[in-house]
Amino acid sequence: MSNAFYYAKTPRGNTRTVSITSGKGGVGKTTTVANLAYCLGALGKKTLILDGDLGMANVDIMFGLRAQHSIHDVLNGKMNLEEVIVPVSPNVDLIPGGSGVYGLHNLSFAQKQVLLDQVGQLDEEYDFMLIDTAPGIDDNVLYLNAAAQEILVLVTPEPSSLTDAYAIIKVLNQKHQETRFSILCNQVKDEQEAMRVYQRLSDVADQFLCVSLDYRGYIPADLNLRQATRSQQLVSMRNSDSPSSQKYLQLAEKLSLPSDLVELKGSIQFFWEQLSGVA
Ligand SMILES: Nc1ncnc2c1ncn2[C@@H]1O[C@H](COP(=O)(O)OP(=O)(O)OP(=O)(O)O)[C@@H](O)[C@H]1O
Ligand SMILES: [Mg+2]
Repeated sequence: MSNAFYYAKTPRGNTRTVSITSGKGGVGKTTTVANLAYCLGALGKKTLILDGDLGMANVDIMFGLRAQHSIHDVLNGKMNLEEVIVPVSPNVDLIPGGSGVYGLHNLSFAQKQVLLDQVGQLDEEYDFMLIDTAPGIDDNVLYLNAAAQEILVLVTPEPSSLTDAYAIIKVLNQKHQETRFSILCNQVKDEQEAMRVYQRLSDVADQFLCVSLDYRGYIPADLNLRQATRSQQLVSMRNSDSPSSQKYLQLAEKLSLPSDLVELKGSIQFFWEQLSGVA
């Protein structure tokens, strides 16, 4: 049996991997990743964020800092993975990624093995890995999503957001055989509007695709959040009573419940194996 086969079929470790995606840009992916990670950390869950946005790696900025190194330095052989990981809030660490994440495919098999060995050690350490993705539906975005256990699709009431959410669900289904997606409605007025948005997406998906969409909840449009972002702070940290902070915390609590998605795909190591093409 080749190593590649062994890696592809053997899920290990306990880390839950969740990608946050939307098709459309500017709907709140990075904001969601950062606040959700913060709340998971506050609940005592060790959380690792992978910044997978090729163009605008900016998760670090959300936490009010600027990372000095990125996964680039690991792929160049200059640093170990654990040396580029930065703590950003209690129980939360970040792998500054940016364009480096996509260099994975070009590594030699030996280089990939070195990286995967390092990643294997992370599985013991983290309860969650959240992956921020770039806008759009190019191959890089698709790979990141297809490698994660749970794909959380963000959608807002804007018609173009619905169209783009549908597009990414469709292409992940057709190209990567993904059949299950979680839906989070962002920037809505209230639960009723969230349900309407979810229902519209779900109706179209039911009509044309063979997928199931699980409603994960909603985050209200919140002025406090905008103000916090402007001052490079997390709303969950700065104003934990605000409507959006409460919903981020609820989402973190929901995610912390056991999920059957964990059994379907592997863990952190599985994620990196998929990404690097070892699997
Ligand atoms: N629930 C919300 N209420 C109010 N404003 C929000 C909310 N969610 C996100 N925003 C605002 O929307 C803007 C875009 O957010 P963000 O950068 O997180 O989006 P993104 O999907 O990561 O964008 P990109 O696709 O460019 O990476 C930010 O100014 C953010 O403050
Ligand atoms: Mg972003």
